[in-house]
Amino acid sequence: RVNTDSMRCPALIEFGKYEIQTWYSSPYPPEYSRLQKLYLCEFCLKYMRSKNILQRHTKKCGWFHPPANEIYRKNDLSVFEVDGNVSKLFCQNLCLLAKLFLDHKTLYYDVEPFLFYILTKNDEKGCHLVGYFSKEKLCQQKYNVSCIMIMPQYQRQGFGRFLIDFSYLLTRQEGQAGSPEKPLSDLGRLSYLAYWKSVILEYLYKHPDKHISVKGISRATGMCPHDIAATLQQLGMIDRQDGRIVLIRRERLIHAEGLRPNPRRNEVDPDALRWTPST
Ligand code: COA
Ligand code: NA
Repeated sequence: RVNTDSMRCPALIEFGKYEIQTWYSSPYPPEYSRLQKLYLCEFCLKYMRSKNILQRHTKKCGWFHPPANEIYRKNDLSVFEVDGNVSKLFCQNLCLLAKLFLDHKTLYYDVEPFLFYILTKNDEKGCHLVGYFSKEKLCQQKYNVSCIMIMPQYQRQGFGRFLIDFSYLLTRQEGQAGSPEKPLSDLGRLSYLAYWKSVILEYLYKHPDKHISVKGISRATGMCPHDIAATLQQLGMIDRQDGRIVLIRRERLIHAEGLRPNPRRNEVDPDALRWTPST
């Protein structure tokens, strides 16, 4: 599925109870990145050369969750908001880890202008990293996600969708409309397209009689008008008549979404959010 770079460094990481094959190289300091395998503390994300060093570290690390406020909790899932300016080393280590699964350039050291939203799955041992997204604190282009990553051992279980949905929940709380920063990776694009489609179809299902407008969908979802229009186009629901843009409801598609049998795994519950925008 993913075309991994065969020259990547390191090729493996040990992370909690998992040994994970990396997809791409990441600019760890040379004395670390030339190792075949790196050992990471799954809580503070410090990287180490050997199992021994990791075991010694684990005894004294003392971290069992990200260094930040928990802003969401429901069932065994939490989201923490980490400020790149406050927890610089943790965020740098998170970016180095994320780069192992991202082909395009991302930030590693310039973390201060960003907030990091960390999704964890919690048990008696601690809050285990599932994935995260970063968000620029002051973003003129209204990007609501800069970078998003789900750890390979948690992919294809709806967690990417969870974080995308969470990012739009924050955007709605800010009274804004947002969009992810471009370029998107192939997996990023697949995940966003699937998300946008289902959110728009669900909106259309719940508003059978109402006059539908891109503006109205944007207000309800936090999605920016451009992404809504592009998705409607993709769904074949946009037509031009006498130079005017009109929306054609394709009822079969809409009903298929509305009648989706099971609630999604790991759905975001807006009532479990404890957060207000900082500006
Ligand atoms: N192949 C095909 N479709 C995929 C896919 C894959 N490998 N991964 C995601 N999708 C699509 C599917 O439509 C999926 O819905 P489905 O599982 O019901 O079919 C939908 O996206 C959402 O999947 P989900 O399980 O919520 O996504 P995820 O938890 O696997 O996370 C990413 C998605 C993009 C965050 C994850 O693949 C990732 O971290 N990739 C590496 C980093 C990256 O590229 N980030 C994006 C940068 S812009
Ligand atoms: Na899924």
